Amino acid sequence: MYTDAVPPVWDLPYTTTRRHISVDLGGDVLEIGDLYCRLAVDVMKVGTFSTEDAASLADGEADPYGTDQLGITWRPKDHHVVLVDSGRVVAHAAFLPIEVEMADERLAGAGLGSVMVHRAFRGRGVGQRLIKETTTHMRALNRSYGLLFCRDARLGFYERLGWRRVLGEVTVDQESGPIVMPLFTCWRSFDGGTPSLTDDLRLIGLPF
Ligand SMILES: CC(C)(COP(=O)(O)OP(=O)(O)OC[C@H]1O[C@@H](n2cnc3c(N)ncnc32)[C@H](O)[C@@H]1OP(=O)(O)O)[C@@H](O)C(=O)NCCC(=O)NCCS
Repeated sequence: MYTDAVPPVWDLPYTTTRRHISVDLGGDVLEIGDLYCRLAVDVMKVGTFSTEDAASLADGEADPYGTDQLGITWRPKDHHVVLVDSGRVVAHAAFLPIEVEMADERLAGAGLGSVMVHRAFRGRGVGQRLIKETTTHMRALNRSYGLLFCRDARLGFYERLGWRRVLGEVTVDQESGPIVMPLFTCWRSFDGGTPSLTDDLRLIGLPF
């Protein structure tokens, strides 16, 4: 489809890709414009996502999350959402039921992690679609909030999708004992009634 009236690509309802078309006329370049194509990904909730599946999605990318140097032990996740393009998994996210303590109150939520888009598909809205679809599945757990951990480079991505940074200190378990989480923690309400997760938090169990 080509038209002058295409809205900014990130406002389009489907995951899209944009190609700028110009024609070389032997010295003169004729600018045609931007061509928008829909990337027809399917969304699937799957029962398992193995280490081999994760390696296939990483496709040789070393340390795709940029967290290896932290040496953190992560928790396996219970639920998996994948986006599939032409039979190939191009994105994956996982979630699980969690509990945190805030000011001596225990709050049941849903943790989001292992968010990854194959590097060849990044920057086209696949990640945004992945988070939106996964959030819908997380809500079905009937817990009042979602929680995730991310590096500073990803904070803007999640904030634009409605997540808020936890400003308090977040403590998580490791085999050696509790540690203060060195990554940012973000949360979002699923029912509008959760007390804001703005104080110090203690996650019960390993991070995810
Ligand atoms: C983080 C990650 C999942 C984002 O996936 P993505 O598919 O690139 O995400 P999107 O395309 O939806 O958004 C990425 C950026 O491209 C922009 N964008 C979205 N759709 C676009 C489009 N069609 N054309 C051009 N740019 C677009 C967005 O504005 C966004 O900008 P921002 O990063 O400043 O918010 C991906 O970078 C990734 O897998 N990284 C490695 C693993 C990782 O760090 N995971 C996060 C762990 S917390």
